[in-house]
Formats: sequence, C-alpha cells, structure tokens
Amino acid sequence: MLRAIPILISLGLALVAFAPNAGGAGVVDARPVYAGAGPDTAAVPARILEQRRAALLALMEPGIAIVRSADPRADWSHPQDARFRQNNDFYYLTGLETPGSWLVLFKRERGPDRELLYLPKRDPAEERWSGSRPGVGDETARRTGVEAVRPAAEFGSDILAPLGAPGSFSDYARLYVPLGGDPSLPRDVVDAAVAGRRSIVDLGVPLAELRVRKDSVELARLRRAVDITVEAHRAALQTVRPGVYEYELEARIEYVFRSMGAHRLGFPSIVGSGPNSVVLHYDRNRRRMEAGELVVVDVGAEYSYYTADITRTYPVSGKFTPRQRKIYELVLATQQTAIDSVRPGITLWRLSQIARSYMREHSDGLCGDLSCDRYFIHGLSHWLGMDVHDVGDYTAPLVPGMVITVEPGIYLPDEELGVRIEDDVLVTEKGHVVLSEGAPKTVAEIESLTKHDACECPAP
Ligand code: GLY
Ligand code: MN
Repeated sequence: MLRAIPILISLGLALVAFAPNAGGAGVVDARPVYAGAGPDTAAVPARILEQRRAALLALMEPGIAIVRSADPRADWSHPQDARFRQNNDFYYLTGLETPGSWLVLFKRERGPDRELLYLPKRDPAEERWSGSRPGVGDETARRTGVEAVRPAAEFGSDILAPLGAPGSFSDYARLYVPLGGDPSLPRDVVDAAVAGRRSIVDLGVPLAELRVRKDSVELARLRRAVDITVEAHRAALQTVRPGVYEYELEARIEYVFRSMGAHRLGFPSIVGSGPNSVVLHYDRNRRRMEAGELVVVDVGAEYSYYTADITRTYPVSGKFTPRQRKIYELVLATQQTAIDSVRPGITLWRLSQIARSYMREHSDGLCGDLSCDRYFIHGLSHWLGMDVHDVGDYTAPLVPGMVITVEPGIYLPDEELGVRIEDDVLVTEKGHVVLSEGAPKTVAEIESLTKHDACECPAP
C-alpha cells in the first residue's frame, strides 16, 4: 500500500487503491485508501486579499468598516475547540484563522483608504497548548497585505473610543458592520457608533456582492470540495444495499471526505432512506435501508472554507422499480432542462420557472392540471461558496464566476418515495460548467455501478 501512495499522489489522482478485505463485521469490508489530498491549504495570497479589500472599499461610501473574527469556545469545559471556524467575512478579507481579532477599513472622501488589523498578543505559554498563531508584526502585515497590525488590546482606545465621541473621526459619518444575524456582530461597536451619532450600514450587502462572484482562489477551493464530494458519492454507490444502515453510508462518505483532505462537513450529511427520503433535511441517519427503497444522499465536503453540495438518489436494491424510475427520470430531465438554461443574464427565478414548467408538462398525470409544487416543495437553486446556502442577491442576473446549485426534487410521502438530484454549476462567459458532473446520475450509470453481489435483491 505504501508503495502505491506516492504514485497516486504524484499523479494527483483522487483515487483509489483497494486493500484486501479486513474481515470484521459490517458491510464496509473493503477499505479503500484515498490518496491525493496534497499539502495543507496554502495561504490566500496577499495580492488576492488586497484585491478583495480594495473591491469592498470601492463599494462603500466614506465611512469605517469593522469586521470581527469568530471567537473560540475557550473555557475549562472546552479546553480544545476543534470546531473553531473563522467568521466567513473575516476570513475572506484577511485569510487569517486567528480568533479575537478585528479588521478595520477606513474609506475616505478623498485620499488613500486605510486598513488596520488588530490581533491578540501572542502568548508563548498558550501556544505550547494550541500551536502558533500570527501575531502583531511585519510578518502578518506581509501575509495579509494590511498596512498595519496592532494589538487587539488597543482596539478600544484606537477605535471604540473615538467612534463613540461625536466630534472624533469626523470624516466618518457611517459605520459599516455585517448585520443580518451574524453572531459575531459586536454589540459594543454598534453602541459606540450610536453614541457617536453615526449611521449604521450593513456591510453584508457589499460583501455579498463580492462573495457571490468567486475569484480564482475561491474557485480552486470550491472545485476541490466538489471533487472530494464526487469521490464520496462514488464510494456511497458501492456501499448502498439492503441491510446497510444510513449511518454506515454516512460514515463511508465522511471517511472519503477526511481521507482526501476535507477540513470539515459543509453541513450535516443527509442520508434518508424509504420514509426518510421525503424529509428534506433528514440528518439523523439511523435507519436500516430495506430492499426496494430509495435513499437520498445529500452531502458536501468543506475544503478550506468552501463547501460542495451534491445530492444523488440511489435505489437500495441496485435497480429502480418502474415507478421509482419514472419519477427519477422526470426529476433528472427537469434538472437537465434547468442546467441547459444556465448562462449569464438569466435569473434564479427564471431558472426555477423553466424547471417547474418542464416538470409539470412532462409529469404524465402526476401533477394533473396543477403545478408540481406540492411535490417539489423547495427552491431549485441557491448560491454556493463559503456557506452551503451562500450569500448573494437572489434577484440578481447571473454573471460569470457565480456558483449555484440546481436541485429539483419530487417527494411523495404516501409512497415513501423521495427523489432529489443536485449538481454544482459554475456560470461562465459562454454558459456554464457542471463542476460535479463526475458523480454518476443516469439510471444506467447508477444501476451498473451499484454492487449487489452480496444481497438477494428482489426483482423490481
Ligand atoms: N444540502 C442541503 C440544502 O441545500 O439545503
Ligand atoms: Mn443544496
């Protein structure tokens, strides 16, 4: 096995050498080793971070923008916070995973804008426990391109105090902070701005305008998240069969995620079989899958702060029943019709209309004279990026660099039959690229790739 790994890595391949069966209980008895994860994430280049901040400043009126980092759960009951995840906006603008920090941008009427970072003072004793962190100094300035890095302890006197004094910071009548439910919105900053008689503006709006169009670094990370998730789906296809528990499928998928270097889940994995296939966000994943059912598998690896979101629906027995196949083909053709329409200028609303009209016209009696909305009960698309339902204006026409999901579904609770098919689609100058096209989805592909030699599968 060791001999195989360097070869696979050197080829940059994401797949797959099969170890001999390890024996033991359970159905996941062949243990594939996934190579190709590569080195840890490289830093976001300072040049890219500078471009992002300059673009944000260009969208602002004169004012001060303040973005707070995330904070860890650091207390005696949580001596480690392995789930620490940086605030998306802070990471987007600084590339830093440091907690307890502030980014401050000054947009002037005229003259050069200013950028300051406030970071906690380094603590060598603490770093013996948690590892090293960027600190105040030239190295952090060089790494982020921010002109000055100051101790977080000075933030109060440098920024908060003048912000709260009506006569100070007289060039800056506006305070920009991300609003909209951001848990890291700093209350004391808002209070100071009110005391200083400044108007408060939602920084989330210009930030969303930027984040919805991915730059080259973002796209590389998103593609990696998608590639990992595609491999996980391929592994899932080989695992699904009657008698397997939903959590076994979940484990196989998440094993591939981590083995290929995913940093975390983009969202809790959804593995819903039979009656659970009609529950959109079913993520308990506790049920035993039975012959003749469908299982909806909606999963996404997160890689370097970017998440994939890919759904496939598999027949547990390896073959669709005629009824399942009919519904599946309708969802698949609806999805293809919508994907074919993805191009610059179109809106998500229009794509949804196209999908829903197609589904209704081809439903062969399922929907009757009514729309299919009573079976297709969720949106067709969402923005994809640092969040699975990423920021962005849902009324905006598509432009190159945006990434959306296209995910029609039909859910028939009375029949315990749910189908959802979801791909991740990049908008390009010429139209689109389906980033997740490597995940099998035609009936023929799925039926031929599902392994069923170990089960007595009933005839469909
Ligand atoms: N992947 C879950 C969702 O899009 O809601
Ligand atoms: Mn989705």
